[in-house]
Amino acid sequence: MPRLTAPEIKARKGDAKRIVSLTAYDAPGARLAEQAGVDIILVGDSVAMVVLGQPNTLEVTMDEMIHHCRAVVRGTERAHVVLDMPFMSYQTGEDDAVRNAGRAIKEGRAQSIKIEGGSSVAPLAARLIDIGVPVMGHIGLRPQAVNQLGGFRAQGTDAQAADIVIADAVALAGAGVYAMVLEKIPAELATYITAHVSVPTIGIGSGPDCDGQVLVMHDMLGMDDGFHPRHSKRYAELAGVIRSAVASYADDVRERRFPAAEQSVAASAELRDHLRARS
Ligand code: KIV
Repeated sequence: MPRLTAPEIKARKGDAKRIVSLTAYDAPGARLAEQAGVDIILVGDSVAMVVLGQPNTLEVTMDEMIHHCRAVVRGTERAHVVLDMPFMSYQTGEDDAVRNAGRAIKEGRAQSIKIEGGSSVAPLAARLIDIGVPVMGHIGLRPQAVNQLGGFRAQGTDAQAADIVIADAVALAGAGVYAMVLEKIPAELATYITAHVSVPTIGIGSGPDCDGQVLVMHDMLGMDDGFHPRHSKRYAELAGVIRSAVASYADDVRERRFPAAEQSVAASAELRDHLRARS
């Protein structure tokens, strides 16, 4: 089955059937997500925080994003794979942006890219789309602007700020993005934007009326039991499951229950005789 394409995703605007997106950063995670029916796998720059242990998304590099994206593509066949362009891979000028978007497609094997920003990046989005790179937008809370925003705060919460987010959404849609992430804005604002733009909105922390939803895989699987972002729902508590499995393994090793005969290679009679003769 061919991969879901950017035009096919765009055509799902307004569908009763919501678009399902999830982040993944490696082949087994991506394979499981695809097997579970995820439409869009986002190789998010959130990899910096949930996999690489960094405090925000600012340090991750284009080379690292490509490395993770290739693994995700290897693990999947049908899902649409988006490479999230890292901080400073597209903000330093159009030529850098074109070069790095090209790397995302050629080296990362992604089907599209995502960039953060609204009106100010719309001309860049249009240029990338013009050269054949489908672009997903990302407005509202922009984690790459965390230092400017003063934290991972909700955006568009008053009339003036909401008007800016609306203008951003309209600019991105006008530039030709095939979809846009709305992160952490009031649900009613996301409803308004979803009704007024011609491309699918993919919400995270932005209420139920977006055309689709995206979550960070490690958050929804409960991989860090000390981190409970309000917008995410925990569908599993894997931190506890993994810790207890590893503790059982450690006990088995210390108590010499592992490895048992079934995990060991038995010597042939000839080898046993040989070893006996040597001792
Ligand atoms: O990097 C990421 O995981 C993202 C999602 C939060 C949309 O950009």
